[in-house]
Amino acid sequence: MEIVILVSLLSLYCDFTDAECLVISPARLVVKYGDPASSNCSSDTPVEMGWEATQGGVGLTDNKVKILNWKVDSVTDWKIKPTCFTDGGQCQKELNITVYKLPDSVSISYRKYPDPMVEGHQYLLQCLVQNIAPIGRLRVTFYKVSTTGEQTELDTQQKSKDNINTPENGTYTLDFTPGRDDDGAQLLCSAMLDLGPEGPQPPPVMDSNRLNTNVHYKPQITSPGCFSMSITEGDTLSLNCSANGNPAPSYDWLLPQADPNTMEERSVVTITNMAKSHSGEYTCIAINPLGNSTCTVNVEVTVDYLPIFAGLAAAVVVILLVISCFTYSSYYKHRRMGHYQLKDVLPRRHKNKHVVQHNRMDQSFM
Ligand SMILES: *[C@@H]1O[C@H](CO)[C@@H](O)[C@H](O)[C@H]1NC(C)=O
Ligand SMILES: *[C@@H]1O[C@H](CO)[C@@H](O)[C@H](O)[C@H]1NC(C)=O
Ligand SMILES: *[C@@H]1O[C@H](CO)[C@@H](O)[C@H](O)[C@H]1NC(C)=O
Ligand SMILES: *[C@@H]1O[C@H](CO)[C@@H](O)[C@H](O)[C@H]1NC(C)=O
Ligand SMILES: *[C@@H]1O[C@H](CO)[C@@H](O)[C@H](O)[C@H]1NC(C)=O
Repeated sequence: MEIVILVSLLSLYCDFTDAECLVISPARLVVKYGDPASSNCSSDTPVEMGWEATQGGVGLTDNKVKILNWKVDSVTDWKIKPTCFTDGGQCQKELNITVYKLPDSVSISYRKYPDPMVEGHQYLLQCLVQNIAPIGRLRVTFYKVSTTGEQTELDTQQKSKDNINTPENGTYTLDFTPGRDDDGAQLLCSAMLDLGPEGPQPPPVMDSNRLNTNVHYKPQITSPGCFSMSITEGDTLSLNCSANGNPAPSYDWLLPQADPNTMEERSVVTITNMAKSHSGEYTCIAINPLGNSTCTVNVEVTVDYLPIFAGLAAAVVVILLVISCFTYSSYYKHRRMGHYQLKDVLPRRHKNKHVVQHNRMDQSFM
């Protein structure tokens, strides 16, 4: 109960003193350097009042007034603090004013060593914002824009320098370790001056230049992969050992044997008319100044037995045909001869011996 009364009394007292004291309207100003500014100081009861300021100051009024205006055509003092006061300084109020300036430039760079960027190395990205005020209200964001146009936020930074009103150069840094996927991506930083609801809406944003990244990385073989395969004798072998790398890799092949049928062209090796002796390991080496990547394909040359079987089968059929032909013809001949024998034997017996002899000769010719 007592506490409630005390609080009520306190608030009454405060209201009373507030009522007696000065009110500044608008109480807060956000002004661009060089722009005009104006605010009113008012009192419920007429008083002699004045504005103390490095620009647009107004001396104590001769008469008692209820309102006194402060006005400047061009604010050029970064630390301006217009203060409204009454006679004798019993009461005084300060205008909350922020003088701002957009940056002259926003630029991004990186510590160039080694240059160009190498995969896995750490680089220091630096965003330089020149001539900005107040620097404590500046938010700097680093972005990465991939080759497909996708924008990723890397980091956002803000310096806690609320006491600095004059223009400053701000340096914002970020450690960046590029991967091979970052090759061709762009880096940029963006400076946003957020001055609150009284400031310009939306808050002004200034982007830096875009830094094109060229990320070097060692080769990595993407095709055909390392595997084992078999190929039929006489066929053509073609292996494509394609690798990605920056700079573009050169290729080397280690083959089981040197051969005039072999043709190497960059990532592709072609051997026509494969022989059994071509079996073995085919090793591809993709090389660039950052390193190498190897891949071995095991090739086994097999003989295709199908045509041999077909040939053999055909030969067997031919032989069988020939044999059956001869067998048939000899049997047929034998029977015909027997018939003639009978015919001839009956009328001419004396010729029998001769015929038998002839017959014997025929058989021996077979
Ligand atoms: C100050 O008060 C005058 C008179 O009431 C008014 O015309 C003027 O717009 C006010 N200025 C500001 C900045 O509020
Ligand atoms: C001025 O206004 C801003 C925003 O309302 C506030 O953050 C800041 O503390 C004020 N400054 C003073 C000196 O009162
Ligand atoms: C900011 O950088 C510019 C160019 O380097 C220089 O002329 C200027 O004096 C610097 N300002 C401050 C506040 O250091
Ligand atoms: C080898 O493979 C790469 C990647 O798959 C492809 O771009 C290239 O055209 C191929 N080369 C040949 C000769 O097939
Ligand atoms: C490939 O790289 C290895 C180390 O990773 C190195 O020892 C070898 O000499 C390199 N080979 C070639 C052909 O550059």
